[in-house]
Amino acid sequence: MDTTKKTSEPTGKVHPIVLYGDPVLDTPAATVTVFDDKLQKLIEDMFASMYSAHGVGLAAPQIGISKRIAVIDCSFKERPEEKIVIINPEIIKTEGKQSGSEGCLSVPEFRENLTRPNVVTVRAQDAKGKEFEMTGEGLLARAFLHETDHLNGKLYISHLSALKRDLMKRKIKKLMKAGEWIYEAPQPM
Ligand code: NI
Repeated sequence: MDTTKKTSEPTGKVHPIVLYGDPVLDTPAATVTVFDDKLQKLIEDMFASMYSAHGVGLAAPQIGISKRIAVIDCSFKERPEEKIVIINPEIIKTEGKQSGSEGCLSVPEFRENLTRPNVVTVRAQDAKGKEFEMTGEGLLARAFLHETDHLNGKLYISHLSALKRDLMKRKIKKLMKAGEWIYEAPQPM
């Protein structure tokens, strides 16, 4: 057993992921104004929950917390410098186009092709409340848009054609009826 490795793993608590159907995902999240130790702990929990669910991005509403916080790691633990926290993010510039498959931890087992801008600049605050701007390309640009959408109460499926979206919703309703779309109540903070 390699204990050295074990201690270097993220220390946050893993929260269950809220699934499509829970109203918290349709609700615009509240602006963060307090940057205290409790927030630092929540950010750790968000990274732990994201990694545990094999995601590269997670917004706080996805663990049932309606606050404007998202975490991103497009390298999935490979490069620590790619761990990004965006708090109260605003998309301030978009350029170009990319086409690619997109999915969401709150809509498991589904992926759809979605055209998005290819270069995206976000203005946000970091974990300590310091304002910054960052420009991302490709997957990071997509993550900025996807996570900011979450904080505005929007899922990526809202960008699909009505036809595709309705088909997906019908499939999800069937899963719900069959008891195969179960969302656990998030644990209290
Ligand atoms: Ni998502």
